[in-house]
Amino acid sequence: MSNYHFFLFFLVSIFNLHFSYSQQQLHISSFNLSTSPWTPLDNQILLSEKSTFAAGFLLTSSTPKLYKFSVWYYNISTITEIWSANNQSPVDETASLEIKNGELTLLNNSSSTNLWPTKPVASTNTTQQLKLQENGNLVYGDSWQSFSFPTNTFLPGQNFSGANLTSNSGKFMFFGKKLGLAGLNDSYYESDHAFLSLDVNGKVSREDGAPFITSDYGDQKLRRLTLDEDGDLKIYSYDQKGGKWGVVWTAVVELCKIHGQCGQSSICMYDARNASTSCLCPPGFKRIPGNEDKCEIKVEMSNLKSTKFLPLDYVSFSSNQTDLKAANFTVCQSFCLNDDKCLGFMFKVDGNSFCKLILDSLLYGYWSPGTEMVTYLRVDSSETERSNFVGMTEVLETTCPVRISLPFPPEESKANTRNIIIICSLFGAELISGLFFFWTFLKKYIKYRDMARTFGLEVMPSSGPKRFTLAEIKDATDNFAKHIGTGGFGDVFMGKLSDGRVVAVKCLKNVTGGDAEFWAEVTIIARMHHLNLIRLWGFCAEKGKRILVYEYVPNGSLDKFLFQSKSSPELQRRKHDDGTEASTIKPVLDWNTRYRIALGVARAIAYLHEECLEWVLHCDIKPENILLGDDFCPKVSDFGLAKLKKKEDIATMPRVRGTRGYMAPECIGPSPITSKADVYSFGVVLLELVAGVRSSQQISSEVDSDQWFLPSWAFDKVYKEMNVDDILDERIKHSYDSRAHFAIVNRMVKTAMWCLQDRPELRPSMGKVAKMIEGTVEIIDPKKPTIFYLDKED
Ligand SMILES: *[C@@H]1O[C@H](CO)[C@@H](O)[C@H](O)[C@H]1NC(C)=O
Ligand SMILES: *[C@@H]1O[C@H](CO)[C@@H](O)[C@H](O)[C@H]1NC(C)=O
Ligand SMILES: *[C@@H]1O[C@H](CO)[C@@H](O)[C@H](O)[C@H]1NC(C)=O
Ligand SMILES: *[C@@H]1O[C@H](CO)[C@@H](O)[C@H](O)[C@H]1NC(C)=O
Ligand SMILES: *[C@@H]1O[C@H](CO)[C@@H](O)[C@H](O)[C@H]1NC(C)=O
Ligand SMILES: *[C@@H]1O[C@H](CO)[C@@H](O)[C@H](O)[C@H]1NC(C)=O
Ligand SMILES: *[C@@H]1O[C@H](CO)[C@@H](O)[C@H](O)[C@H]1NC(C)=O
Ligand SMILES: *[C@@H]1O[C@H](CO)[C@@H](O)[C@H](O)[C@H]1NC(C)=O
Ligand SMILES: *[C@@H]1O[C@H](CO)[C@@H](O)[C@H](O)[C@H]1NC(C)=O
Ligand SMILES: *[C@@H]1O[C@H](CO)[C@@H](O)[C@H](O)[C@H]1NC(C)=O
Ligand SMILES: *[C@@H]1O[C@H](CO)[C@@H](O)[C@H](O)[C@H]1NC(C)=O
Repeated sequence: MSNYHFFLFFLVSIFNLHFSYSQQQLHISSFNLSTSPWTPLDNQILLSEKSTFAAGFLLTSSTPKLYKFSVWYYNISTITEIWSANNQSPVDETASLEIKNGELTLLNNSSSTNLWPTKPVASTNTTQQLKLQENGNLVYGDSWQSFSFPTNTFLPGQNFSGANLTSNSGKFMFFGKKLGLAGLNDSYYESDHAFLSLDVNGKVSREDGAPFITSDYGDQKLRRLTLDEDGDLKIYSYDQKGGKWGVVWTAVVELCKIHGQCGQSSICMYDARNASTSCLCPPGFKRIPGNEDKCEIKVEMSNLKSTKFLPLDYVSFSSNQTDLKAANFTVCQSFCLNDDKCLGFMFKVDGNSFCKLILDSLLYGYWSPGTEMVTYLRVDSSETERSNFVGMTEVLETTCPVRISLPFPPEESKANTRNIIIICSLFGAELISGLFFFWTFLKKYIKYRDMARTFGLEVMPSSGPKRFTLAEIKDATDNFAKHIGTGGFGDVFMGKLSDGRVVAVKCLKNVTGGDAEFWAEVTIIARMHHLNLIRLWGFCAEKGKRILVYEYVPNGSLDKFLFQSKSSPELQRRKHDDGTEASTIKPVLDWNTRYRIALGVARAIAYLHEECLEWVLHCDIKPENILLGDDFCPKVSDFGLAKLKKKEDIATMPRVRGTRGYMAPECIGPSPITSKADVYSFGVVLLELVAGVRSSQQISSEVDSDQWFLPSWAFDKVYKEMNVDDILDERIKHSYDSRAHFAIVNRMVKTAMWCLQDRPELRPSMGKVAKMIEGTVEIIDPKKPTIFYLDKED
């Protein structure tokens, strides 16, 4: 019976295949009176001159057969629809596109109304034709063009001004600079300036504002700006070699910030592992049956005088209330207690007295460590459930260095003990990663237990990093023949794997812990995927050796480019002539390249801090750890390694005196170190990118050498003396064109000043920093960074 069905199915498929190939598709270059009417069964398409785009009836559902009249990219393997005349109202096979009395009409049934937007007309016979331009613009008659009625996509060359995008489902809208739920006065993303256009290089121009660029800026590619079904606005570029679209810019980095991911009283959680979101009920709340993403309170608050608050770390809800600036937690709580409509309040732990009440309803809740927010949810005093959103204290301990307490690996390798170790260390890794939910843990525990049972330690899960043997590493590196550098964590060698990949092999020194612990850490590091992070391909833990295998980045590190000896060009040329020093002379990076490097590094660190639930702090951001790939695309290296350092090494961290290099002031004191320490280090790098010298190197004799602090000096030059020229890298000062470069240099300097603020809570989060450099948020004038005296603490 089933064989018979299969046979039928087989016949039908063959027939379909045959059918679709036997009918030659008709290509037309213009739709006019001679080709009118056009129905979905005509099997014809309208092509642009060079066949980049096509237009015609596209099948959108097969039972019943429904069509949309659309424009799509023709000359690429995946059909990518960019416009549609009847997006929300598909038509059936009897539909037709016609030119009637000069008017273009799209009718579902001969009797129905015209579905084409705004009934375009043509006054003369010659303009009575529909043509598709090479840039994807469909034009008809005197002035009608599809570019004026975009659906969910803008294209390069299109004028965005005054036009809105709507996601295909109709749920989300983009109004020039604001993203929000359609039909509501709502917004979850707002750029300071309205977007005007996108060019093929990846630059977005904005109204009265500086443009911003995509992460692959500079390459001429097929590009599009699309409002996706997930509610995020993204720029895609097409990779001809790989044959697919890649995301090169997104408006909202954290998906949970997009409104409508979860229903009322529910909290959105992002899982970096599978890039998906889930909705959870807060403590004291339960799911509404049949309404899976909404929650309701378990115990109605009968007497508002007898309520209590449950803290939800890193959770925020939407609130249109103004910041009440409460002196402390007690004050903020009393505001809420005195308001009968108050369902809870939000309080920030950063010492800025942020206090907002949540009235009427709990909407758009989400969890994100980047917010530094705690929501206190009002529940009946009889409620016994404890908060499941804890982790503030734990995450504060996820600082550099992390105090991890994992079991020691076994001396002998008895399979059973080893499995327990794997489970325990993975559990440890989960703890660090910031997932504190019991049920998630339980599921993972079962998964890991099974995994460990099946494979043991030798075989990694397919997604994990590869475990190399020492022999393989020796083979790849010719027994560590080609030494290419020495970093803070050990020597680096170049090698080539048997599959031909060129790799950088890093032999770690002074690493803590045993095999299992090392594996747990390496697994976390290998999970980080970002264009601007070095990829970790594998590792080796054998005979006490700890080796990491990274992708090889050819151009070397940023410091080699930035801090070259300022010898005269003649001397440099002479060195070049005799050949010996030639390879050490690097080209001077131009302003646009420096800007791209700054943006790339900021995005990579923001990813580490905010997008990965792991909340990895880098703790060692400096030009030596920023490698430059093809086209000077920056790649941050050595992230995640701070956790592996031996504790003794950390205890004896050299105290930096006078000029403090890249370390944030709080790294020296006893206060806890947070992600803001990375922000500080990044600020130093940013200023060095502009000045082209080490921050410790004195470039002006106006200041006593023991008072020298590059940030303060630069601040005075830029904001007091209004003399930007003085701080610019003198090697490319001459190419500084204030019209072309002022905006990017100004943003880099201003952002650096914010990053270099003495007090961690004044520094912006790394996500904000990336947006400041990108130019999508306004940067108010920073305060002057002050030199930090170590003696202050003593
Ligand atoms: C009408 O369309 C057909 C098919 O594309 C084309 O060959 C013809 O030149 C067009 N006529 C005019 C007047 O544009
Ligand atoms: C499609 O693009 C490729 C490469 O960009 C080009 O060689 C080819 O001629 C194009 N085909 C058409 C039909 O335009
Ligand atoms: C067109 O007609 C089909 C059925 O014939 C119907 O399913 C579809 O909704 C109609 N579309 C519009 C826009 O009325
Ligand atoms: C479309 O037209 C046919 C014939 O005129 C009619 O039978 C059918 O009900 C119409 N469908 C719709 C959805 O209007
Ligand atoms: C325009 O088209 C109409 C109908 O096809 C025809 O009667 C008329 O002569 C045409 N006019 C010109 C100027 O070609
Ligand atoms: C874009 O469109 C707006 C109004 O729709 C117009 O004012 C503006 O001049 C256009 N810009 C360009 C560059 O065409
Ligand atoms: C875009 O949205 C704004 C705000 O809702 C509205 O005022 C404007 O008319 C819309 N523009 C178009 C072309 O629909
Ligand atoms: C929409 O909200 C903004 C600020 O939240 C407010 O200024 C504006 O008046 C509101 N518009 C409408 C139509 O409610
Ligand atoms: C993502 O992972 C979480 C837990 O690891 C799981 O609950 C969820 O269903 C996964 N989502 C998808 C889309 O696979
Ligand atoms: C907040 O929104 C509610 C209704 O949703 C409205 O009644 C209230 O006035 C708003 N408050 C402020 C400060 O805008
Ligand atoms: C909170 O601030 C209020 C007013 O400034 C003060 O009276 C109260 O003592 C403070 N409470 C705590 C616990 O610091």
